[in-house]
Amino acid sequence: MNVVSSLFVSALLALASHAASAGATRLTIPELIDTKDKSHVELTLKRGAHEFYPGVKSDTLGINGDYLGPTIKLYRGRHVDIRFNNQIGVATTIHGHGLHVPGNVDGGPQETIRSGESRTIGLDITQRASTSWYHPHWMGKTAEHVYAGLAGFYLIEDERSLTLNLPKRYGINDIPLIVQDRSFVAGQMRPYSVGRQQVEDGFRGDTLVVNGTIDAYQNVPQGWVRLRLLNASNARIYRFSLSDSRAFHLIATDGGFVESPVTITQLNMGPGERNEIMVDLSRGGRVTLMAEFLPTDPGDQRLLQQSPRTSKSVLELRADPRLAAQGELPAKLATITAYSREAVVVTRTFRLDMGNRGNGRRGTNGVNGQNGGANANAGSRFNINGHSMDMSMINHSSKLGDIELWRVTGDRMSHPFHIHGVSFQILSRNGSAPAATERGWKDTVMVGERGFVELVMRFDHAASEDYPYMFHCHILEHEDAGMMGQFTVR
Ligand code: C2O
Ligand code: CU
Ligand code: CU
Repeated sequence: MNVVSSLFVSALLALASHAASAGATRLTIPELIDTKDKSHVELTLKRGAHEFYPGVKSDTLGINGDYLGPTIKLYRGRHVDIRFNNQIGVATTIHGHGLHVPGNVDGGPQETIRSGESRTIGLDITQRASTSWYHPHWMGKTAEHVYAGLAGFYLIEDERSLTLNLPKRYGINDIPLIVQDRSFVAGQMRPYSVGRQQVEDGFRGDTLVVNGTIDAYQNVPQGWVRLRLLNASNARIYRFSLSDSRAFHLIATDGGFVESPVTITQLNMGPGERNEIMVDLSRGGRVTLMAEFLPTDPGDQRLLQQSPRTSKSVLELRADPRLAAQGELPAKLATITAYSREAVVVTRTFRLDMGNRGNGRRGTNGVNGQNGGANANAGSRFNINGHSMDMSMINHSSKLGDIELWRVTGDRMSHPFHIHGVSFQILSRNGSAPAATERGWKDTVMVGERGFVELVMRFDHAASEDYPYMFHCHILEHEDAGMMGQFTVR
């Protein structure tokens, strides 16, 4: 880039950051593919050139587009075939995160889609309404492929969600938000690369991007607005709030509706988690959804200094009286039958482990040569229960229909623990009942530095040795470095 154009870019960036609180760019809404009247969906993974900043193109990956992919609406009780065409130049896979489908269509690391080839999966949707998503799961490359732009929503509808009078006009008052952090140099997204320390912390960018848009605004009806939040960041944990501190209402967690709305002013979300919230704009005006960048572990001084707590604008909502309001906040959303401890037939424990560092706690001595990347020596690698992810090893076998309790403990920082093929309930967090915002169906849960969670679930779909399910940390750098395992269900 020559001097003039880089000056031009800095001017643009100055303009963009000046306009940050105002919302400078209209939000991009991913294309909607509704499978109500179709049973075949065609998705093409390809290389793209996306303008995060006007006039400056970045090398990206996208699905049917330059960056990210379409939203696919699915219906309980229906079957749909999805064909993935891989034109990105390297092999990958596409996993359905949050889907309750058998292992052979789950899209784990075994379900290779070679470069230039296609793979078709048939999905029978049997689960309740929820906000799920899809993303690559290629062994050792998940972080890089997601960072470059491969991710999108699966929105599942059922009888209940279709009957409730919730805001349901896609992109108007039912708004999908893929929240990510990225790094830019002169307006261009930095290509993905991480050093040892970043493998430990997870990749953390300084710029907040939503649906590929920076400093986004959206005109919405003067009424209820439903936001479907997905934290699709590699590692960043956010605390969402509204700019005037007004209350909002949580209506759904990862795997479906909560029983009744939970009124809150702040909501923390780790990588992989989804929540649906309702914002009241009936009085008109504007309000901005903010995200505070939380450190890996709120007690960690080194990380606090590295990335001071700052709040970034995610999306400015501008009430527009010309748009027709629709929907309300129902008092009752769903009935959730709680799993009881007595029903548990198998208990398993999972210890997330960042490996031996030799010098104790993080922060004492910076980078430690014994540890870190996917190539570090076996004894000190990221692992779960002492085993680093090994595609030729099945870590355990579960039985169809059994109710299992998984007790998961963290290590040195907060980790988002995720399980494929199932939604679970949080029986306890550090021995106490979970907060109201976690009393619902989940598939990804933050496990604190010294804490533990107890998760209860029942497996209703099969996963064979050839196509097992995964359990892993959803900090994508940790996953790629080995903090993952596999299990069968039969
Ligand atoms: Cu969202 Cu195994 O991942
Ligand atoms: Cu998943
Ligand atoms: Cu982790």
